[in-house]
Amino acid sequence: MKQILVTGANGQLGQSLRQKASLYPDMNFVFCAKEDFNLEQPLQMEKVLDRHQIDVVINAAAYTAVDQAEKEPDRAFAINTLGVDRLAGLCAQKEIVLAHISTDYVFDGSASEPYSEDHGAAPLGIYGQSKHQGEMAVAQNTGNHYIIRTSWLYGPFGHNFLKTMLRLASEGKALSITTDQTGSPTSTLDLAHAILELVSKQAPFGTYHFSNSGQTTWHGFAHEIFVQTHQIDQVQLAETTDYPTFAKRPAYSVMDTDKITQTLKQPIRSWQDALADVIKQL
Ligand SMILES: NC(=O)c1ccc[n+]([C@@H]2O[C@H](COP(=O)([O-])OP(=O)(O)OC[C@H]3O[C@@H](n4cnc5c(N)ncnc54)[C@H](OP(=O)(O)O)[C@@H]3O)[C@@H](O)[C@H]2O)c1
Repeated sequence: MKQILVTGANGQLGQSLRQKASLYPDMNFVFCAKEDFNLEQPLQMEKVLDRHQIDVVINAAAYTAVDQAEKEPDRAFAINTLGVDRLAGLCAQKEIVLAHISTDYVFDGSASEPYSEDHGAAPLGIYGQSKHQGEMAVAQNTGNHYIIRTSWLYGPFGHNFLKTMLRLASEGKALSITTDQTGSPTSTLDLAHAILELVSKQAPFGTYHFSNSGQTTWHGFAHEIFVQTHQIDQVQLAETTDYPTFAKRPAYSVMDTDKITQTLKQPIRSWQDALADVIKQL
């Protein structure tokens, strides 16, 4: 039976992978939170990989604080680049397949049509740079890899935009949400399923884009959240184009998902349908 190690097991994707893992009885999963498998501790990583005779690592661990990364770039690079480089080196040495998660923030957002996997990366901020260099470290260390780029993650676990919107609305806050970024909200549950499908079907190695289908702005996302939770008539929701953030973000980061759709031979559902499922689970 294949031994699969999931890093970052307490993150929003990590917990979603845990939920979906039960659908794959022919794989055995080892879930490791930061304390048990720290990307900054190579000796600890090596011991865990050996102890469990791991065949595949799904790396859901990352430094994900996009704005904070501008203030502490060393932390972002230590985890997202150096840590990933060490993990990929260990995987190469031990012939372990590495499924690594990356981000739409590797793109600069100047495109006007969905980004394909081979479009050049040009990250705008430290987080995106650290993730892009992490991707390069994976590719340089081992050919036996999946790099799965995704976007605008939310789900039933951890902190995310959906939960923030629901909390602010319950506190009666007036909301001004930006319309100046366009992307594809993606359910961590759908992403977890796609990752596990790639791994279990032993899909060809390489880079894949996975987002729920369709596109919107953060304001459009918030609007749909309040429609689906029957609060749109009560919530004060305004549009803004003036929402300064510490890190620059791509204005347009929709990704072309044809490659993963064709590889898995499964259509990807719309971000609105995926949202309805997550809301049901909350
Ligand atoms: N969130 C998004 O909108 C988004 C969009 C595109 C791509 N992604 C990518 O998707 C992946 C999953 O993101 P997510 O939203 O699930 O992130 P998340 O909820 O922040 O989870 C990341 C996990 O990694 C852990 N971690 C941090 N530093 C670590 C280290 N040195 N060693 C081991 N574990 C460490 C964190 O633990 P602590 O919390 O204890 O630090 C946390 O449990 C990441 O690769 C991210 O870059 C995310």
